[in-house]
Amino acid sequence: MTLTETLRYRGAIGQWSWVLHRVTGLGVVLFLVLHVIDTSWAVFYPSLYEEAIASYQSPLFTIGEFGLIACVIFHAYNGLRIAIFDYNPRLWKHQERAAYIALGLTALTLVPTFAIMVADVVEHYSHSPFILPFDMVLRAQLPFAVGIAAAVVGAVLLSGIVGMIAGNDDVSGGKATGSRLERFWWSYMRVSGFLIVPLVFGHLAMMHLVQGVFNLTVAGTPIVGTNGLVNVSGTAVEFVLARWNTSLSGATTGLAVWRLYDIGLLFLVTVHGFNGLRYVLTDYTAFSPLLKRAAVYLCLAGGVVLLVVGGAALLSSLDRDAIILACEGQEHIGRPLSAFCQEALGL
Ligand code: HEM
Ligand code: HEM
Repeated sequence: MTLTETLRYRGAIGQWSWVLHRVTGLGVVLFLVLHVIDTSWAVFYPSLYEEAIASYQSPLFTIGEFGLIACVIFHAYNGLRIAIFDYNPRLWKHQERAAYIALGLTALTLVPTFAIMVADVVEHYSHSPFILPFDMVLRAQLPFAVGIAAAVVGAVLLSGIVGMIAGNDDVSGGKATGSRLERFWWSYMRVSGFLIVPLVFGHLAMMHLVQGVFNLTVAGTPIVGTNGLVNVSGTAVEFVLARWNTSLSGATTGLAVWRLYDIGLLFLVTVHGFNGLRYVLTDYTAFSPLLKRAAVYLCLAGGVVLLVVGGAALLSSLDRDAIILACEGQEHIGRPLSAFCQEALGL
């Protein structure tokens, strides 16, 4: 099955739906790269995690979060439509109506979601909040831009070397293997889509609707999903620590329920997102074996790096010493400190 065949829905309904699905998928992949690496700092570099969350709370990222939510919700509904129709050819005559339904459901979901998020933003800005300076927000993203550029250059160089040694035959290897593999990926994209919907909607509901991004760093607020534990230090690290150490029984030992949830989310979303990225990049590099192969290497390396970094964080222990380091991080970026942090830092 060729790539064009796997994307056959693109011809049946308007181009807009296909373009939107592609653009929203790419937007979420880009966010995911920053987000998984940032989140790993809660374990590996707690003070930097405080800066990352302060960036998320800055006006630039707040605008981006509205876009991110819109992207995830449209992509999810439209992806479900694609999957349902691909498995039920007799529905094909309703493609166009279904595309509009996906768009309508997106709007219906976004109206109350955005209303809650706007209320959160208004409430936050009515209290002369701490705002990380714009230049610091931009500077914090620079290493990501450099890392992505280096990965692109590395993938092209590797592809060039492989091309010189093995020649420029089909990137996917033997034809039969390629086709079997592509059939697997075709199914994976659809099945994982069904599984991702409840996980990612649940994650966003917890982070945006129940908790609210600004409340990740407010001392005295209850931490979502922890049977009422309160964030005493007002650090984002304590928020993650409390969630990741919460077990099904509510105690701090046992089966860590949010770690398991995040492991499922990390695996499904990373593999889906990077395989989707491969579809897009190989579509636009089909004219050049060198670049097409580089695109495959880039997606493979990107997916593996995220799984290793995110997985390592999720499998590491996170203890209360990290909270002191987080207090230092908050002091470093100039955020007003909670009573807990002031005492911990001897201020
Ligand atoms: C929320 C549930 C989701 C569903 C139901 C879903 C569904 C789908 C489906 C059915 C496809 C088409 C696959 C194909 O053509 O073979 C697809 C493509 C894609 N998805 Fe998702 N997806 C979801 C979440 C995500 C997430 C979280 C990301 C990013 C991390 C993502 C990124 C992509 C990309 C980049 C593509 C390729 C688009 C293209 O080829 O034009 N998706 N998705
Ligand atoms: C701006 C919106 C978001 C916020 C504020 C947010 C916040 C968080 C926080 C605080 C954690 C730490 C763990 C926890 O408490 O469960 C986390 C982990 C995670 N989030 Fe999000 N999230 C957002 C959007 C997303 C989206 C859209 C996705 C998927 C595409 C996603 C995927 C993940 C994954 C995979 C992890 C685990 C990371 C790891 O391996 O260490 N998040 N998120």
